Amino acid sequence: MSQNSQPLKPGEKILFTVAGAFVVFAVIAFIIMQFMIAKSDKPLFETRTHADLTAEGQKGSELFRVKGCTTCHRALRNGTNMGQTADLDGIGSRRTAEWMYAFLTEPEKNYGSETMDHRAGQRSAAYVALMPKEELHAIAVFLSELKSDQGSASAPVPPKGDSPFIDSMVKTWAPQSWKEKYPDVRDAGNKPQGEGDKAQ
Ligand code: HEC
Repeated sequence: MSQNSQPLKPGEKILFTVAGAFVVFAVIAFIIMQFMIAKSDKPLFETRTHADLTAEGQKGSELFRVKGCTTCHRALRNGTNMGQTADLDGIGSRRTAEWMYAFLTEPEKNYGSETMDHRAGQRSAAYVALMPKEELHAIAVFLSELKSDQGSASAPVPPKGDSPFIDSMVKTWAPQSWKEKYPDVRDAGNKPQGEGDKAQ
């Protein structure tokens, strides 16, 4: 019955103890995290994008969901988290409704590089360009209304105020001569010109 009930070797004991400790630690950490999320009235991740939809934007938002865009994209809490291109929240701060419409109707001509899924042929998103023009227009309007707040990952401008991290990156990577040539986008209004290498 018990041929295989040999005592554990010391190495095995250590291994099992360490592995067990990891599991216990992970479970405790998970419980604490869930507890904190439930207690806190702040969301775990701050939303840094917003959208004020016009009537056409509303229509586009619905089409975005029912026409399968959410299989590959994400916007306003709908869709997949697959990757960065896939996340369209905030895209309206980078691209105009005109660009969006041009891309949706003729992806290959307007993307700037070869497209993977949107181009014609046996592609999973090739159907998009063949959708009725007025539907694509509504979607383009919808996407252009997805705005990002300053400092969000999808915003073209970094957060307001001083960031020791950004300052040190600029100091390390930007040649001194750029300081004279280019204004610091963060300076817009709230910082005196030329401040850049001191996290005051
Ligand atoms: C099969 C997956 C898939 C589906 C479905 C899909 N897309 Fe895309 N989309 C992509 C990929 C991948 C890219 C990046 C360009 C490329 O390689 O085709 C992209 C790029 C885009 C872009 C450009 C983003 C940028 O700024 O670079 C827009 C806008 C867009 N899609 C809108 C839509 C809309 C609207 C729909 C639905 C009508 C849709 N997509 C359906 C995969 C998909």
